[in-house]
Amino acid sequence: ARVRHYRWEVNYEYKSPDCFKKLTMTINGKSPGPTILAQQGDTIVVEVKNSLPTENTAIHWHGIRQIGTPWSDGAEGVSQCPILPGDTFIYKFVVDKAGTFLYHAHYGMQREAGLFGSILVAVPDGESEPFIYDHEHNILLNDWYHKSTLDQAEGLSSIPFVFVGEPQSLLINGRGKFNCSSSSISITEEVCNTSNPQCSPYILSVTPRKTYRLRISSLTSLSALSFQIEGHNLTVVEADGHYVEPFVVENLYVYSGETYSVLLTASQDPSRNYWISTNVVARKPSTPLGLAILNYSPNSPKKMPPTIPPPGPVWNDTASALAQSLAIKARHGFIRTPPPKADRVIVLLNTQNKVDGYTRWSLNNVSLALPLTPYLVALKYKLPHAFDQTPTPENYDSADYDIYSVPKNVNATSSSGIYRLDFNSTVDVILQNANTLTPNNSESHPWHLHGHNFWVIGFGDGKFDIENDPKKYNLVNPIMKNTVPLYPYGWTAIRFQADNPGVWIFHCHIETHFYMGMAVVFEEGVDMVGDLPSSVMGCGQTKAFHGP
Ligand code: C2O
Ligand code: CU
Repeated sequence: ARVRHYRWEVNYEYKSPDCFKKLTMTINGKSPGPTILAQQGDTIVVEVKNSLPTENTAIHWHGIRQIGTPWSDGAEGVSQCPILPGDTFIYKFVVDKAGTFLYHAHYGMQREAGLFGSILVAVPDGESEPFIYDHEHNILLNDWYHKSTLDQAEGLSSIPFVFVGEPQSLLINGRGKFNCSSSSISITEEVCNTSNPQCSPYILSVTPRKTYRLRISSLTSLSALSFQIEGHNLTVVEADGHYVEPFVVENLYVYSGETYSVLLTASQDPSRNYWISTNVVARKPSTPLGLAILNYSPNSPKKMPPTIPPPGPVWNDTASALAQSLAIKARHGFIRTPPPKADRVIVLLNTQNKVDGYTRWSLNNVSLALPLTPYLVALKYKLPHAFDQTPTPENYDSADYDIYSVPKNVNATSSSGIYRLDFNSTVDVILQNANTLTPNNSESHPWHLHGHNFWVIGFGDGKFDIENDPKKYNLVNPIMKNTVPLYPYGWTAIRFQADNPGVWIFHCHIETHFYMGMAVVFEEGVDMVGDLPSSVMGCGQTKAFHGP
């Protein structure tokens, strides 16, 4: 195993990823940032210099469990204090598993400003993947707003509430195309120019008859996506770093925080190029398709496909999206079966509420407010009063709650309370969806757990039935993931082992939802965590505290 050293500088720069000029958060001048290429077992060292003139930052390594290094998780308020402007923070961790992973800002809503990228981990020497391909390409999807992140964050935390709205563009590998003349106010060429090379479409070049592994992941801030390649099927083989029993799809649903690998064979008419498209699902879209080109060499990549781009599935076809979730099973020969039963079951009702008149998202009517002192430091060194000591609720009053209506009582509370888990215990979390504050509306939420992979043991419609639904769990070949969708008016059940000493946040990966409190925090075995580096301290009650 090797040590791979990176030196990153985070800054703001004007970029035109969709032809429209916007202040973008970059790493070494790029958004998406540099791809981390490593091999299983390698140690990654990233020196992050915060050169943002006025903003703190922190970077999370999404899908990396941080075994033995919970202080490198990059979750501001949980595992560390923010990195102040001008400061440098060193992240050091082992990539202990081959697969497709991500990294992104975990401070405010900086992810949607462009601060993110990919981590691609290859199998160790002498091992091979259980599928065959000739080449591989990485495809990272995101949605893009023209308003600044600060502007949007302010609106979300104001009375009256100002929603961010639907994104202006969808980007494929950081490239999209906004229609500069579609705006009601006229924009100058200096601001929006469709011939800017920064927004020329991503070209995926293939050789006829060869097979490609496409690593497809999403770091959208709001949108759930479908991804498709005109005239070509995709075979799903990996999900969140776990091998999938292969199955074929025409389009791939990807929720924010999910990663997949699919196999694509260039088996179609080689005399032309094809459209690659991505479209918004799960919310009524008002964002145009994101487009890229599948280029069969030796055709010119500039040769336009003679067809119209595939529009993708209709946005509200939840049944098809759910069918994909149900089709994802652990691959034969790579199955790790979960413990047969849980030691603890936590049911989390997902609702939109009001806290003191502010619109928030809550779990069991509690909306997370991150404390000023990071939990990891507070718990490890037993700092008193660093966060709310009242434990967060295990359940909601399900007999009395109608998940199909606007909450009867819209008032929730905000809290920094957490769930303390017994070390090595088996925990089930049932995510229960419900109606939002808008009648006849329930949204999709991709839930992401730090520090663990979990088994996805069940999905269902309506209200979870604690008597009968657990009998239908898949305990035979469930996939392990780190991010899983919760569908409108449905429930999703996951199981994990609390075997990683540290403090871990579990949250909706929609950035605005997380920002509005849609998260809970788990602690396990914090006493077993080694001495924390002083670099994670300096804020809240750790200001005057200099370690043990
Ligand atoms: Cu990719 Cu806490 O998230
Ligand atoms: Cu959400």
